[in-house]
Amino acid sequence: MFEINISPEWQDAIHKRSSVRKYTGNPTDEQLSRLGVLCKKLTWQGITVRMFRGPGLKSVIKGTNVYAVIVAKNGTPPEMEGYMGEALVLEATAMGLGTCWLGAGFNADIVNKNVNLQNDEQIHCVIAIGQASLPAFNPKRRSIQQLCKKSEDEVKNLGPWQLTAVENARLAPSAINQQPWKIEVDTNSISILERTVLIPKYAGIDRGICMLHAAVGAASKRHTGVWKKQEDGYMMKA
Ligand SMILES: Cc1cc2nc3c(=O)[nH]c(=O)nc-3n(C[C@H](O)[C@H](O)[C@H](O)COP(=O)(O)O)c2cc1C
Repeated sequence: MFEINISPEWQDAIHKRSSVRKYTGNPTDEQLSRLGVLCKKLTWQGITVRMFRGPGLKSVIKGTNVYAVIVAKNGTPPEMEGYMGEALVLEATAMGLGTCWLGAGFNADIVNKNVNLQNDEQIHCVIAIGQASLPAFNPKRRSIQQLCKKSEDEVKNLGPWQLTAVENARLAPSAINQQPWKIEVDTNSISILERTVLIPKYAGIDRGICMLHAAVGAASKRHTGVWKKQEDGYMMKA
């Protein structure tokens, strides 16, 4: 599970991305076909990712009517939805496009019909995608010390792959910016674990997004590993 080809370009994309709600147009046909190729690669193990152009987004999104839909077969861990969806977000960001995850900002009746949703499938989120100049990068997030429950000195002493993985994980987008994760990191592993939040509805998807960010950070320092389920999250030995 969670095995995908991580593009080296996603490391930079993580340090550029922020949610965009006002766009200046749809992606070009060329951009759409490139994203379509990635959607096919992200479609496996209970997840289907598909691009659509047309109605489906609510008025919170202006200036584009293009979006990706993440369809999950019942029983698929929500972390997979986040992992695969964020891969598309980072690829789109690397292509210079704006994106926004939407849990509430889409019209479920229209989207369910578009994908011909089956009884054993669910859609929790879509991702708006369009032309936009990204705003200055200024994410509001908890500090690495808070996330990892480590002192400043302990954080400084983390190895290079661990530090990049944690820095990336910190920058992950989450529903209402709740950042519903705590991170454990040691010499050979990183774990993205549950943290109690007020509205846990999207916490599993948020965790998957955070896991991909951590994996991109580790991969940027030539460390790769396999995510293993823990009682309260996932651990990757790298
Ligand atoms: C699973 C998920 C669902 C989200 N749903 C919405 C939404 O319905 N409407 C919206 O405007 N933003 C939505 N967002 C965007 C978050 O509000 C945003 O990622 C967060 O505030 C952090 O800001 P940033 O993405 O600009 O770094 C969602 C994000 C995630 C990860």
